Amino acid sequence: MSPLPSLDGTHAGASLSARYFRFAGVDRGDWQVLDQRVIVGEALADVAALTVVPPTSPTPDSMHWMLSGVTSNERYVEREEKAALVNRQEPLGRPGATCAALIPIRKNATWWALTQDERRRIFEADSRHIAIGLQALPAIARRLHHCRDLPTPEPFDFLTWFEYAPQNEPIFDKLLRDLRSTHEWSYVDWEVELRLMREA
Ligand code: HEM
Repeated sequence: MSPLPSLDGTHAGASLSARYFRFAGVDRGDWQVLDQRVIVGEALADVAALTVVPPTSPTPDSMHWMLSGVTSNERYVEREEKAALVNRQEPLGRPGATCAALIPIRKNATWWALTQDERRRIFEADSRHIAIGLQALPAIARRLHHCRDLPTPEPFDFLTWFEYAPQNEPIFDKLLRDLRSTHEWSYVDWEVELRLMREA
């Protein structure tokens, strides 16, 4: 597969390898797992570390599980929201952002049976997902991966990834509390949260 130029891997027209991310639960890796919290559903097997495995790399020897997803085009964002996000959001990989979270999420069949306009209404008009999220910018950097777009069955629908500096953990905790109290979250039937840390 020949990778096409992609600035950030979020452009849906970018080659699949530039959009494809694999997160492996391992014994030793880039990110130390501090804690796993089960919000709803089952736990993942406990692991000491997490590694992001490039698409062309072999799977790590000490791998216990692997979750895969692809970045994709946006489904819900409207033009003004897009402008506000672009103005405020920071990239991943900031040197001071030594904390991260991987939060895999599955939504139930009722959600997936809705139409696009019904989902948008719940997502933003009712739940204010983007408005709530904007309050956490620029402290929290994020990337959303879709799992249903892959040809192989995946346990979750989304893999959400966040990075922040240790002093911004309260902002992240509040963001999670606010989002989880929304109408949108009543459709979430599996959610686990891995809190991670790397060396500065
Ligand atoms: C850092 C602040 C956040 C911002 C600015 C933000 C923004 C967004 C935006 C703009 C979308 C829609 C993308 C589209 O149009 O397709 C989205 C989707 C999503 N976000 Fe967030 N978000 C934030 C935090 C979070 C957190 C903390 C979680 C998980 C706990 C989360 C989970 C999701 C999920 C699962 C989707 C996909 C929803 C769906 O397609 O059904 N977000 N987010």
